[in-house]
Amino acid sequence: MTQKALTQSVTLNNGISMPIFGLGVWKTKSGKECIDAVLAALEVGYRHIDTAKIYGNEEDVGKAIRESGIPRNEIFITTKLWNADQGKDKTRKALEGSLKSLGVDYVDLYLIHFPVASKRMDSWKELEKAYHDKLSRSIGVSNYTIRHLHELLQESQITPAVNQVEFHPFLNQKDLLETCIKNKIQLEAYSPLAHGQKTDDPQIVSMARKYGKTSAQILIRWSIEQNIVVIPKSVKKERILENSQVFDFKISDEDMKVLSALDENFRTCWDPTDVD
Ligand SMILES: NC(=O)c1ccc[n+]([C@@H]2O[C@H](COP(=O)([O-])OP(=O)(O)OC[C@H]3O[C@@H](n4cnc5c(N)ncnc54)[C@H](OP(=O)(O)O)[C@@H]3O)[C@@H](O)[C@H]2O)c1
Repeated sequence: MTQKALTQSVTLNNGISMPIFGLGVWKTKSGKECIDAVLAALEVGYRHIDTAKIYGNEEDVGKAIRESGIPRNEIFITTKLWNADQGKDKTRKALEGSLKSLGVDYVDLYLIHFPVASKRMDSWKELEKAYHDKLSRSIGVSNYTIRHLHELLQESQITPAVNQVEFHPFLNQKDLLETCIKNKIQLEAYSPLAHGQKTDDPQIVSMARKYGKTSAQILIRWSIEQNIVVIPKSVKKERILENSQVFDFKISDEDMKVLSALDENFRTCWDPTDVD
């Protein structure tokens, strides 16, 4: 089934457009599983893929994009600098390696995957150079807390375009979102389905029933209602389609408040709070 490209976007602080919705491919196996997932997503209208060197599937993402026949410049590709590659000497090489694996001349967004203490500022300076050299159309960070953002804002030439963090109603990081908005940093929600662990939550199930939608669609729409970029992962064709069908309904202000109150500091991924 083919549907129109999902074109709702946000504008990043450097003026470039980023689709508000995309496919995440963490834990998507390299080879057929990843190629099929990306092809299925592109076929139903996704135009944004989130990968990382550490996911081990950049090559497959690149292959699927080429196989789709969709022009490269119509697809927003994000990849990330892994921890072991951080620092002055290794960062540029890692980015060049990612470009080679993906088979592209540039990515749309390059992120520091995690705020590694003592290395992250040197890494950021290399990202700034890579941005000037047009190897990435935008640069940003991931797993940065408010403190890490303030440090970066003080010491950097370029304000990060994006902060990609775990974000869903059960980990509703309101203060971090406010800090990002205030500083024109786009928040991007990873693990928006709480890594699949909250689709059976009774309150989400009851909200889904009310809107005639699925739990996953409610969780994804909750981010979109707040202008937050969101990148659910699935390897199943029917779920890839289901997760994209979130642009034909709205969650009322009242129900947004109910969902936002579900916060219980529930993390499914790493916690950067105590990183120096
Ligand atoms: N920057 C970072 O440090 C970081 C960390 C984590 C994630 N991410 C990014 O964010 C993306 C999404 O996060 P995530 O992969 O952790 O988790 P997620 O998207 O919250 O959830 C994925 C899980 O939910 C299942 N699922 C997908 N659609 C579903 C549906 N409609 N109904 C029920 N279950 C469904 C998937 O299983 P199936 O595949 O079997 O459908 C998978 O087990 C990642 O792929 C990655 O790109 C970034």
